[in-house]
Amino acid sequence: MRRLEGQRVLVTGAAGGMGRAHCIRLAQEGASVIALDVAEAASALEETAQAVRELGVVAVTGSADIRDFDTLAEVVADCVKTVGGLDVVVANAGVYDTPGPVWTIDPAIWNRSLDVNLTGAWHTVKACVPHFRDGGSVILVSSTAGIKGIAGAGHYSAAKHAVVGLSRTLANELGAQSIRVNSVHPGSVRTPMIINEKVFANLCPGIENPTEADAAAVLSARNLLPVPWVDPVDVSNAVLFLASSESRYMTGCQLVIDAGLTQKV
Ligand SMILES: NC(=O)c1ccc[n+]([C@@H]2O[C@H](COP(=O)([O-])OP(=O)(O)OC[C@H]3O[C@@H](n4cnc5c(N)ncnc54)[C@H](O)[C@@H]3O)[C@@H](O)[C@H]2O)c1
Repeated sequence: MRRLEGQRVLVTGAAGGMGRAHCIRLAQEGASVIALDVAEAASALEETAQAVRELGVVAVTGSADIRDFDTLAEVVADCVKTVGGLDVVVANAGVYDTPGPVWTIDPAIWNRSLDVNLTGAWHTVKACVPHFRDGGSVILVSSTAGIKGIAGAGHYSAAKHAVVGLSRTLANELGAQSIRVNSVHPGSVRTPMIINEKVFANLCPGIENPTEADAAAVLSARNLLPVPWVDPVDVSNAVLFLASSESRYMTGCQLVIDAGLTQKV
């Protein structure tokens, strides 16, 4: 028996990065998948769906910006109807910029971070929870930036800390209906969000045109384990555990997958 046989899961930010990895890993364990992302990512989202279908399970896709609640709720309702219900939600979509110290952050960048990373997660839950019928699992993707402050990313750290407050509150509100709510906290993960020239330059201010190897050296020094980052599937395995009945009495928890980043002194 696969670990998510018969379950219906919804993943936001599913066109690439960790969202795609979550869809594939959950599908490997038998789940039907609703994969959502913004309209501009439609062709990459279809690749995710195709990879899921190749595993012999159902995949449906939907286009919605998680900042737009009305559209999101409509798309979620349509997709849930198509797959016949909803058991697991993974609020994964997020954005990250590198603007600098808090007092220098441009209001537009601040607002985008809060709108997508926090309000988008709230919208996702708000659109999905009414579809749960027989318990369920909500997994909110925060970050190690939701546990400790990250210099130069106050907009992101504030939003990801707030996701923990959202998660703990929902755990209180939904426990009596057997709906569990937990957050995951990845450290650095090798996805397009951090594997790009802007982030490399931010990590290595003393190096002209820093490479991935330069960035890896900086990130390795932040971890207890001798690795610069974890792979998307390492986070997907944590998401799978929280989605499955193996974690049936866990709610209101923060699960950290960070190679020791948050514990390093
Ligand atoms: N990569 C890391 O190092 C890292 C570390 C900790 C936490 N995270 C978090 O993990 C999650 C996934 O990150 P990733 O690394 O896969 O990022 P990514 O940039 O590779 O993918 C993010 C996905 O979210 C989608 N998205 C962005 N804004 C959206 C919106 N308004 N509406 C709908 N979809 C939207 C994008 O189109 C993209 O497909 C995010 O919440 C991120 O903050 C990432």
